[in-house]
Amino acid sequence: MKFFVDTADLNEIKDLAATGLLDGVTTNPSLVAKSGHSNFIELIREIASVVEGPVSAEVAATDFEGMLAEARTLTKIAKNIAIKVPLTPAGLKVCKILSGEGTQVNVTLCFSPAQAILAAKAGAAFVSPFVGRLDDIGQDGMGLISSICEIYGNYPAFKTEVLVASVRSPMHVVLAAQMGADVATIPPSVIRQLFKHPLTDSGLAQFVEDWKKTGQTIPRGSQP
Ligand code: E4P
Repeated sequence: MKFFVDTADLNEIKDLAATGLLDGVTTNPSLVAKSGHSNFIELIREIASVVEGPVSAEVAATDFEGMLAEARTLTKIAKNIAIKVPLTPAGLKVCKILSGEGTQVNVTLCFSPAQAILAAKAGAAFVSPFVGRLDDIGQDGMGLISSICEIYGNYPAFKTEVLVASVRSPMHVVLAAQMGADVATIPPSVIRQLFKHPLTDSGLAQFVEDWKKTGQTIPRGSQP
């Protein structure tokens, strides 16, 4: 399972990329606004230089011509840019064209299995079902992931990866992995939560204490 980080905060991206566990980045207009950066193109260029994997950059226009024109600009920023388009008729039309040209497209704002089928037919590299936002309105976010994984599994010709988005907790990530989702895009705070377990902390503290009792040190960087 691939891990993308869902943020436009460059410091967070650099910090998490240093773990070696990051496979890509997703941004959206809200995350860019939150980052406070005033030059979107430069921000995306910098993010794409920090991470080798796909960096999703979302178009701002909502009409077909506008989205396509913006996408053509964004794809020129770096080789690892994935163009993010909304799941609308115009967005899927743009997706079909760009995918046909070999550009990776991430179809965002997916909330139903029917929409996910359309994204796959449009040749999307990724479809982004938003689980947290469905949970927020009392619907079953992870149920949607289960349905999409089942449907895509029925059609080997569908090459679209299921990118679980709007992740709010480690359990979303674990359930997504159990369902066989390809990718989860995860806020930095939730990625950090994945590392944590109280028994890991207490166990490590005990090992450190007990090691001190031995009075020994392990030589660093030299032949034993
Ligand atoms: C996906 O690519 C979106 O950026 C994101 O996951 C949306 O999450 P939110 O519902 O927490 O805004």
